[in-house]
Amino acid sequence: MPLKSRIDSALTAAISGAQAKPSPTRLASALHYAVTPGGARIRPTILLSVAMACGDRNPQLADAAAAALEIIHCASLVHDDLPCFDDADIRRGKPSLHRAYSEPLAILTGDSLIILAFETIARAKGAPPELALELVLALAKRTGMPFGICAGQGWESEEKVDLSAYHLAKTGALFVAATEMGAIAGGHDSEPWVELGARIGEAFQVADDLRDALMDQETLGKPVGQDDLHGRPNAVSAFGVEGATQRLRDILAGAIASIPSCPGEAALAHMVRATADQIIPKATAAQARSAIPGE
Ligand code: IPE
Ligand code: IPE
Ligand code: MG
Ligand code: MG
Repeated sequence: MPLKSRIDSALTAAISGAQAKPSPTRLASALHYAVTPGGARIRPTILLSVAMACGDRNPQLADAAAAALEIIHCASLVHDDLPCFDDADIRRGKPSLHRAYSEPLAILTGDSLIILAFETIARAKGAPPELALELVLALAKRTGMPFGICAGQGWESEEKVDLSAYHLAKTGALFVAATEMGAIAGGHDSEPWVELGARIGEAFQVADDLRDALMDQETLGKPVGQDDLHGRPNAVSAFGVEGATQRLRDILAGAIASIPSCPGEAALAHMVRATADQIIPKATAAQARSAIPGE
């Protein structure tokens, strides 16, 4: 089955489980709204690609892990768009969840999705329970405090911000979760996979900062110019467009070089290059690609 279908059907199964009747219909509908039709699904794609590169020994567990990771990501976006965070009216080209439903329902949607993510892994069939436990711990580490996206968002309430710690936690954490969880579901040790996730996450954040500075809301499907608006530290203000683009090239080259040896190493390198195509704003794509080994 293609990765996209695996991800979509795992997500559909997880969300419909949370909508069983009798449940409040608006909150049940909001859960679906937060997750579907979705964005690029980049984190679960990386997770399943790593699981496959490791031999895909526990496909049902890998699918559950991929759905759980994307559900956490969607929850984080719902909370991130709230007025008390970024106050964003648009997400993925449609009204942000609190604009479409309400602020209380957006808070409850985020909360319900976070819980659903862990439940989805706990319910996965066909794999040793200790692997599910390991996945739960990996996802918890990359979601909460002190290393996860909660920590990342928490940096925005500090007076002095360490740009690399902020980015590593806010964005990098879920990419590290993607490679770690893919390895765990594939029956491998997760530790050697941390660097690949961290590098992809760092590249993704720099690309997101470039998109925020260079693209328009219609193309991106979410507000742009947010980093400047909120006075947030970002790679473009720190290094300029040229400097940030150079940084992106260096990080992506390092990401390919850091892939641990595994049966599907070549296919995984191909996936990282395809991810690069996806995340780099078009204007800078040609320059960045030329610096990636094998291109
Ligand atoms: C947006 O992530 C949030 C960041 C961490 C910058 P994505 O760009 O992956 O969002 P979707 O899922 O494709 O909408
Ligand atoms: C969102 O970061 C990352 C989360 C942990 C939710 P941003 O606020 O920079 O991303 P966008 O621009 O809203 O997608
Ligand atoms: Mg934000
Ligand atoms: Mg935001």
